[in-house]
Amino acid sequence: MSLIQWTHFPPLGDDRGSLVALEGEKTVPFTIQRVYYLFGTKLGVSRGFHAHKKLQQLAVCVTGRCRMVLKKKKKREEVWLDSPTEGLLIGNMVWREMHDFSPDCVLLVLASEHYDEADYIRTYDDFLKLAKSLFVILKRIMVIKQFFMLVFLLLIPKLAFQSYTAL
Ligand code: TYD
Repeated sequence: MSLIQWTHFPPLGDDRGSLVALEGEKTVPFTIQRVYYLFGTKLGVSRGFHAHKKLQQLAVCVTGRCRMVLKKKKKREEVWLDSPTEGLLIGNMVWREMHDFSPDCVLLVLASEHYDEADYIRTYDDFLKLAKSLFVILKRIMVIKQFFMLVFLLLIPKLAFQSYTAL
């Protein structure tokens, strides 16, 4: 699955101009707990360079443009945010970097949680370590699940035989 997940917001404007409505749990696939926006980013400045353990976000470039780089596992994808009707969904455990902000860029971000510095993963090294340990835990859960499935499948004929002989 691509790291680039767009959500389209239909413009509701009329002959007076444009309007876009963002609604939590409707057009935005989570409850909106926080809204913030980046603006006035200085020329040549890049932002982000972190991931979040739990937080989900949706970024919309209301005006201007910037380039978003997303990384997860071995994937690295990048995309331009330059439309007020397209939101980029950024899930948890995704490394993000924002580059090439135009002087007029206003990047609106909707977040699923209140601000919590403890949710940030601030270095790429820590991000890789945590992603790896989560992968190991997930793999162990899968192995345990498969073990119990096998035990269950092996027990079915035995139980069937016991109930047949008990008749
Ligand atoms: P940070 O998330 O590091 O910005 P970026 O990823 O865009 O480079 O946030 C910059 C500073 O602002 C940092 O000191 C934390 C603070 N901050 C809040 O207090 N509340 C917020 O909701 C956000 C997003 C940041």
